[in-house]
Amino acid sequence: MAKLLAVKPLSRLLKEAENEGESGLKRTLGPLNLITLGIGAIIGAGIFVLTGQAAAIHAGPAVVLSFVLAGITCAFAGLCYAEFASLIPIAGSAYTYGYATLGEFVAWIIGWDLVLEYAFGAATVASGWSGYFVGLFADLGITIPPQFTTTPGTVLYLFHGRWQQLAALPMSVDVDPAQLPHVTGVFNLVAFLAITVVTAVLIIGIQESANLNTAIVIVKLGVVGVFLVLGIGYILKHPAEAHANWTPFIPPSEGPGRFGLNGITAGAASIFFAYIGFDAVSTAAQEAKNPKRDMPIGILGSLVVCTVLYILVSGTLTGLVNYRALNVGDPVAVGIDVTGVRWGSILVKVGAVFGLGTVMLVMLLGQSRVFYSMSRDGLLWKWAGKIHPKFRTPWISNMVVGAIVAFMPALLPIDRLSALVNMGTLLAFTIVCAGVWILRRRNPDLHRPFKTPWVPLVPILGMISALYLIFSLPTLTKVVVLAWLAVGLLIYFTYSVKHSKVQKALREEGVGGPPPIART
Ligand code: ALA
Repeated sequence: MAKLLAVKPLSRLLKEAENEGESGLKRTLGPLNLITLGIGAIIGAGIFVLTGQAAAIHAGPAVVLSFVLAGITCAFAGLCYAEFASLIPIAGSAYTYGYATLGEFVAWIIGWDLVLEYAFGAATVASGWSGYFVGLFADLGITIPPQFTTTPGTVLYLFHGRWQQLAALPMSVDVDPAQLPHVTGVFNLVAFLAITVVTAVLIIGIQESANLNTAIVIVKLGVVGVFLVLGIGYILKHPAEAHANWTPFIPPSEGPGRFGLNGITAGAASIFFAYIGFDAVSTAAQEAKNPKRDMPIGILGSLVVCTVLYILVSGTLTGLVNYRALNVGDPVAVGIDVTGVRWGSILVKVGAVFGLGTVMLVMLLGQSRVFYSMSRDGLLWKWAGKIHPKFRTPWISNMVVGAIVAFMPALLPIDRLSALVNMGTLLAFTIVCAGVWILRRRNPDLHRPFKTPWVPLVPILGMISALYLIFSLPTLTKVVVLAWLAVGLLIYFTYSVKHSKVQKALREEGVGGPPPIART
């Protein structure tokens, strides 16, 4: 039991960070860079794709309330992340916090669980990316063979020169789908290639340039800004249309998770994906100029900006288009089409293609960092931490992860993938919230540059809201995640316990139980 609770002493973590720092990481990021980094990782397939599905399938116009609900859950978790990130300003995110505080077993669970967030997250974004990419090519008059743009079994119909799913056909037209040319999807090759290219870029070693990230974030925010200006402008000129689209605001229930009050929480659980990424700020702790002060600013600042934008975008989108017509791969482009501004749709697609590209990059990078940290700690096989002699990147880990992840969006639909990511992330949030509370009790005097307010109320509310959203997710998702964790436990007990460096050090020092966390 004591072995499972073995913690990695903070002094050792800081020393490792220092050594890594000497080999290259420079402290260049200020508070604004960190907020931009967060926004770069957060705004992606969630708002550009899943908002449409959440409105059409779960919540109707009340998807705005789903965003508020998911935003509140993230705020509780964000406050807890902020305390950890300022206390342990070291790359590795929740895995590192878990190892320093709750012990090796919990750290392993978080690390294994983060695969669901980062690797499956990249797969989800690739799936969304393919929708915008195919749409952009169609606008340019280039048709990609439709059976290679969607998952196996999905039927696409040719309507007005576009291959689209039945749910995406305009409700106003009275067509018999059987009369339309149609094809059945074989393999989403576009999404597969997207992950392959991003993996290759990661292996060759992208210099994470804060400037490049800032430029892409500006493009993304610009696209969202243009959508809001055009959309709100149109709504102000045609209030009756918007009023009709917003009525009823909460459509009557059509069964569990379909509209009504229950639909709002199901919607929140499904668009929770849109908020994922603020924790990515914490992975840049070693490059921050003043991490103790700026980590909380970066995490909470990016979360606030995105929450406000999401509420505005989802409200505007459901005012422009009836929610039932939003179950499409590129809902924001469909929304801007209503305004009649011809260049708007192309602008949104170009912005989404670049914007979602960086989200995939950040997610796969996060994944390789977590595997790298776990391998370095002896909890995963050595190859996962092997660095390429020339590129200086964990190339084997990148290649294995990339090869597996590339098949996911090629074979599985976006809603299945995003539900897995949501559950994995909500579990990590629950553990981080619990960690803050436990550490406050265990080490009340530790110097905390940022303190989560109202402990234990905020961590408890964070855990309750995360667990509530977990229960709103589909049953199949929960079963798959449990199976995933079972595989993780098998690896932990057959490999990790025997190779753990922390346990080895404890054995050598003759220490049996968890040492107290070092004071900073
Ligand atoms: N929040 C990120 C997205 O929506 C993961 O793509």
